Amino acid sequence: MKLDIAVLSGDGIGPEVTAQAIKALEAVAHNFDHSFIFKEGLVGAIAIDQTGNPLPDETLELCVNTDAVLFGAIGDPKYDNDPSAPVRPEQGLLRLRKELGLYANIRPVKAYPTLIDKSPLKREIIEGTDISIYRELTGGIYFGKKEISDDGNVASDLCEYSREEIERISHLAFKAAQKRRKKLTLVDKANVLESSRLWRKVVTEIATSYSDVTLDFLFVDNAAMQMILNPSQFDVILTENMFGDIISDEASVIGGSIGLLASASIGNTCCMFEPIHGSYPQATGKGIANPIAAILSAAMLLEHFNLIGEANAIRDAVEKALELNITTPDLNTNNPLSTEKVGDFIADYILNPEDSNLNFENIHVGQSTII
Ligand code: IPM
Ligand code: MG
Repeated sequence: MKLDIAVLSGDGIGPEVTAQAIKALEAVAHNFDHSFIFKEGLVGAIAIDQTGNPLPDETLELCVNTDAVLFGAIGDPKYDNDPSAPVRPEQGLLRLRKELGLYANIRPVKAYPTLIDKSPLKREIIEGTDISIYRELTGGIYFGKKEISDDGNVASDLCEYSREEIERISHLAFKAAQKRRKKLTLVDKANVLESSRLWRKVVTEIATSYSDVTLDFLFVDNAAMQMILNPSQFDVILTENMFGDIISDEASVIGGSIGLLASASIGNTCCMFEPIHGSYPQATGKGIANPIAAILSAAMLLEHFNLIGEANAIRDAVEKALELNITTPDLNTNNPLSTEKVGDFIADYILNPEDSNLNFENIHVGQSTII
């Protein structure tokens, strides 16, 4: 298969982790005889620095005319600490999601058996956890009308949803549940918010077309508690934009590191794959960022194009790296490896799975000659 992939590596650790995802994709292309063509575009703070715009027109055009977008991370502390900044890196990402119509953000959360003891949560709580979060991505409070009074003392953000916005992601979430453990939990705040009541109504109606899926509801505050108390109760979680943002960061502690969580953002014509972590500016250039979330995002890209064996080749390599503790300092305090070395191991394992122990030795003595 030939795929054109736009690479928007962005800010902070974005470029270093995205480079590892590309190495994994190149290894897959080599083994499975595919052709992946990568074209880079600017986004985020780096794009503001160079063009004044967090999403320059050329970048948007590149993304519209490509098969898939591989996204790194955006954000820079110089904007975080300046609430009056007229342009912000995040605007680039939000506009990209909106312009590409990426309404469904899928965030898988899993307790890897080899990492269970790395999580701050107890083994018996997280064992068996395997959740797929379906976060609505182009509506709600993120995109509602924003206002600030003339004197600057009153501000508001409107949370608005239409039936159609709820329906389209709900169908995807129900279909996903049908292929999994057939349970869907709608997370909302229907005891307070009108928009949440519309979600409940629409999702309840849609559920009648998926009678094999059990639907239940949780208020978001309770869901936040359940995520820590008993996460293995969840199968598919469906939720609106901001609740999904918060719940998915919370869920990331289950896996032991936010550096493991990948995501896919899907629309009717475009798709984008990105780690859920941010730009981690303190780590930039130090080689300590975990590349696995970016690499697993590449696996989600392959899966999206139905390249299932290829996606599993990446996942097997990641599992091998975790099993052998070929990991960055977030997961490995005694003998951590660099972002690049972890990426090398994973790409190499994809190319020669039977050779992994040898490469493991090489990596530890710093002599890896891998691709
Ligand atoms: C995410 C991020 C973004 C979001 C930020 C960077 C705008 O936190 O993808 O979860 O809030 O959606
Ligand atoms: Mg977030």
